[in-house]
Amino acid sequence: MRLGIMTGGGDAPGLNGVIEAVTKTLLGMGHTVYGIHDGFEGIFNHRMELLTEQQVNGIHAFAGTILGTSNKSGIDGRAEEFLTKYQQLKLNGLIAAGGDGTFKGLAMFNGVIPLIGVPKTIDNDLSGTDVTFGYATACSVVANAIDKLRTTADAHKRNIFLETMGRTAGWIALGGGLAGYADGILIPEKPFDFNQLKDFIMSKRAEGKRGLIIAVAEGAHPQGKSAKVSFTVSNSPEAVRLGGIAEYLARWCDSEMEEESRHVVLGHLQRAEPPTTVDRFFTLSIGTMVGSLVQQSAWGQAVSYKNGQVVAVPIEDFMGPPRLISLDHPWLSIAKSVGIFV
Ligand code: F6P
Repeated sequence: MRLGIMTGGGDAPGLNGVIEAVTKTLLGMGHTVYGIHDGFEGIFNHRMELLTEQQVNGIHAFAGTILGTSNKSGIDGRAEEFLTKYQQLKLNGLIAAGGDGTFKGLAMFNGVIPLIGVPKTIDNDLSGTDVTFGYATACSVVANAIDKLRTTADAHKRNIFLETMGRTAGWIALGGGLAGYADGILIPEKPFDFNQLKDFIMSKRAEGKRGLIIAVAEGAHPQGKSAKVSFTVSNSPEAVRLGGIAEYLARWCDSEMEEESRHVVLGHLQRAEPPTTVDRFFTLSIGTMVGSLVQQSAWGQAVSYKNGQVVAVPIEDFMGPPRLISLDHPWLSIAKSVGIFV
């Protein structure tokens, strides 16, 4: 078979691992693999290249995607053109690694185009799976940043508000914040109360704590207020980009408590780190699962991780609303057990 592989949406560490594992598995089965460039744009503009083993050897060790990606150009209003362009490529199947934007874009072609989905986002907020690759790596970036920032926060007796990615979900702030033993973790799912946050900071100072590190999800917001919008991206399936809450909290802290505070926005460093061993193993397992789905012509399936195992589920499972942290999630109790403000 002639199979195409594309990566869509924001990149996540591990995408290259998926490309390497899928390509090697499919080549081993005797298929031909084409890498489609820049997400849906590659289909619209017929930009694809034959992938060889040499081209993908070793790419698993790097973040990014050798195929390029885009979270701007969708299929909205161009469905007919998309289908025609896809059919001209004469592929027998399409393997799409993407987030909710990519899957929503492809939803109308499910059953028309032979599809296999590979869910991807550092945000870990996709419905249909317990975890996405790239998330562990993003959390390790947050934890490392906390470890480093603690030195300067302690030196100066400062509060440092560390803003993480994650859109409307707090997974990165919570996972990374726990791994780094942040003093506080603010997530969108649990809007914070200014008075409680102030009491917490004051009590820690009273106990003699020098520096405080608070991990703040970009979507975190106070009770009764919505998340801060940093800017919007036209053409993007998800136009709004959140951000600014860490700086806002640092200034609030300075004025409310005469504390000295700073903010750090981790930004795209969370997507740029080489994948951790966990994410490498994860994407290797995903890639080989894709191979067996192709072999069975199990189109319309996507690779998920459930109850400790890589499994196949219907691709529609990834088209639902973001998977948020429930307020009874055990990680929140873990945080409280060690005195972390959540
Ligand atoms: O969805 C992944 C994500 O990294 C979000 O956490 C973040 O808000 C957004 O993408 C940033 O997107 P961009 O690549 O457009 O800056």
